Amino acid sequence: MGSSGKPRAVVTGITGQDGSYLAEFLLEKGYDVFGVVRRSSTEKFERIKHFQDRITLMHADLTDQGSMIDVITEARPREVYNLAAQSFVPTSWKQPMLTGQVTALGVTCVLEAIRVVDKSIRFYQASSSEMFGNAQETPQRESTPFYPRSPYGVAKVYGHWITVNYRESYGMFAVSGILFNHESPRRGLEFVTRKISLGVARIRLGLDTEVRLGNLDAKRDWGYAGDYVRAMWLMMQQETPEDYVVSSGETHSVREACEAAFSHVGLNWEDHVTVDPKFYRPAEVHLLLGDSAKARTRLKWTPEVSFRDLMGMMVDADIERLQRENQHGAV
Ligand code: NAP
Ligand code: GDD
Repeated sequence: MGSSGKPRAVVTGITGQDGSYLAEFLLEKGYDVFGVVRRSSTEKFERIKHFQDRITLMHADLTDQGSMIDVITEARPREVYNLAAQSFVPTSWKQPMLTGQVTALGVTCVLEAIRVVDKSIRFYQASSSEMFGNAQETPQRESTPFYPRSPYGVAKVYGHWITVNYRESYGMFAVSGILFNHESPRRGLEFVTRKISLGVARIRLGLDTEVRLGNLDAKRDWGYAGDYVRAMWLMMQQETPEDYVVSSGETHSVREACEAAFSHVGLNWEDHVTVDPKFYRPAEVHLLLGDSAKARTRLKWTPEVSFRDLMGMMVDADIERLQRENQHGAV
């Protein structure tokens, strides 16, 4: 609790997709929110600018131990949500060292800061279905063995186990949320759903004719980010720290995502999607499908936005955004 009497939360990765939704959610719940941002020559606050005046931003980096200790010391939160990561899978082959430093060791940096300052602070780790990779069973649940297929997935496995280890070594309330893919109009432009939704919007407005994609057969369990941040918070309110799978329980191919997005505005995806091997990965995760029975039963969590509604929402948002930019002469 801060002097205001409100619970305090630190969110790393607040400028990212999930950070922005989680911060909004926590503000609605009456929290004082402290967002960790890293120094940049230009500000990248697009996702948080509509509530920036209601939160406190603090400078730190997950690769700098002292800076994280300062954040935890100054904010003195009840809860820390570690969402920061190098999160784009293809980049993890191009920058495997950086990915390991931020996405793996960065987790230890935050846990160490908590251990040193106050072990009673609760910790959430943003773990990933990419840890299942070459999935050893379908659907994947908390007990499914990990078999990561990218340097990113390997780094997330480290992040998961170091979280479990700090819980077991120091009795800390540290939980790992194993979240399957979740998307939104705030998704980064390079991820496949957003690439498709922006492509559809540009084609619909006559700004483009095609979208170039890689493997159309890959299948993912896609949900809406706004639903998934609710699960993060619920995990942190339980009596005991445990790990949970969070997923929609449906799997769809990239091809189906194209079909849903193009048909939403009356277009045929086959007229506009070109397969470009440039976007194939050195090792692919072919099929993800999560079993979130534990989260649904214990946390009473249920997602509210369906796959087709999600793709439609993202296309509509991109069309609106492009039209707005056009009015201001940016297109
Ligand atoms: P995102 O949009 O890529 O956001 C990543 C955030 O991490 C950004 O705020 C970024 O800051 C920050 N960051 C990167 N390197 C950092 C560093 N060295 N120090 C401090 N901050 C740093 O990711 P997201 O989709 O919101 O995902 C949030 C978390 O959940 C990530 O850990 C991701 O791996 C994990 N996850 C995501 C999904 C999903 O489907 N979205 C599923 C499972 C797990 P800048 O703005 O400065 O770049
Ligand atoms: N990005 C991208 N671009 N992916 C493509 C493309 C393309 O042009 N064409 C096909 N795909 C396929 C990829 O090969 C992959 O199988 C699938 O679409 C999803 O790719 P992404 O949207 O980039 O997400 P991801 O599944 O690799 O990773 C996301 O979800 C993870 C949870 O499972 C990220 O958010 C990770 O940070 C997260 O942990």
